[in-house]
Amino acid sequence: MKAIRKAVFPVAGLGTRFLPATKANPKEMLPIVDKPLIQFAAEEAVAAGIDVLIFIIGRNKSSIPDHFDKAYELEAELEASGKQEMLNIVRNILPSRIDCVYIRQAEALGLGHAVLCAQSVVGDEPFAVLLADDLISTNERSCLNQMVDIYSQHHCSILGIEQVARETVSRYGIIDSAQISDSLSKVNAIVEKPAIDKAPSNLAVVGRYILTPRIFKLLEMTERGAGNEIQLTDAIAKLLNEETVLGYEFDGKRFDCGSKSGYLQATVEFALQHPELKQEFESYLYDLVKK
Ligand code: UTP
Repeated sequence: MKAIRKAVFPVAGLGTRFLPATKANPKEMLPIVDKPLIQFAAEEAVAAGIDVLIFIIGRNKSSIPDHFDKAYELEAELEASGKQEMLNIVRNILPSRIDCVYIRQAEALGLGHAVLCAQSVVGDEPFAVLLADDLISTNERSCLNQMVDIYSQHHCSILGIEQVARETVSRYGIIDSAQISDSLSKVNAIVEKPAIDKAPSNLAVVGRYILTPRIFKLLEMTERGAGNEIQLTDAIAKLLNEETVLGYEFDGKRFDCGSKSGYLQATVEFALQHPELKQEFESYLYDLVKK
């Protein structure tokens, strides 16, 4: 069995829900307090044992590579002014053993197309996909860590899933499944953004996947679907006919940071846990709510 060593981060979406903030910057560079969403996702992957990070970048192509690259001038300035703590933060964005690869998605043709862009770098191995705008906070093991554990027992594709409110099913890929245990089910069918009355359940696929390399061949055969985009969900629907695919209800709390409301909720909750801010921010919120 091949271990999961590579993770794909599709960051080439247009991020229209966040315009004008995303006019010149990918939404994955939006910060939660002081850390960009993409760094949370990269840290989650590294904690799960990944050592190659593959970023699928779009038209605002430079800020994500810049974020993970060495910043010589900034480091020199921080060193000269004795700001050691900041210098350590800037120097340790990623451990030195990690390789970053950047692939340009020339046109935003959809998530499925973005994943397909990683084919030549991933090769013939199972791999992870993380959508950084789904920020998942956990107490102990990260969401991807939990999924890698499941993969090591079952050796098949695993989708991160969550129960969502029935009225929101049309925003997600929704599965039809047979329960195996408390948190694990076998996926029987999957449909992208169904109408409420057509949804097979309220179990939604969130932005964490472990996929076998077979998905690439199926993506090559996938036509444009919902939203006129090449949908990863449609290729997974084909994968189900050939291989076992499991849905895993992770232990943790997801913030949909691709939406303004989810982004604000994450900002508030992370600020309330931030060592430098929590006391001041908590009393500010308390006073605000009391009024
Ligand atoms: P979304 O469905 O959230 O689309 O993409 P979006 O364009 O980023 O945002 P809105 O809906 O216009 O506000 C889900 C994930 O797939 C990536 C996005 O960057 C996001 O991580 N994606 C989407 C691509 O990399 N390429 C694409 O062509 C489409």
